[in-house]
Amino acid sequence: MSRGEARGAGPRRGESFGVSLDGAEVTAYDGDSVAAVLMREGHVSWRLTRHGNRPRGLFCGIGACQDCVVTVDGVDGVRACVAPATPGAEIRSNGGPSDG
Ligand code: FES
Repeated sequence: MSRGEARGAGPRRGESFGVSLDGAEVTAYDGDSVAAVLMREGHVSWRLTRHGNRPRGLFCGIGACQDCVVTVDGVDGVRACVAPATPGAEIRSNGGPSDG
């Protein structure tokens, strides 16, 4: 038993389920936000700004800035940082650089 286990530290994940991320099946866990799924899959940015095509991803993390917007189940403008990942969700990044 490691020191972290002895103290009850470390990540605890809920049940796993599948979501689609840009057409690829990936694993998410109960309690994940959409942003958590994106970041676990290695994405740092997942959309480009309209002016200047600058990469954007997680910034405020609390639903205030809209930097993290994605398309979920056909709904544009979903804030990935506060949207829960749900079983079978179809998540589309919005033209961000392929950094994942
Ligand atoms: S990171 Fe700011 S709204 Fe999601």
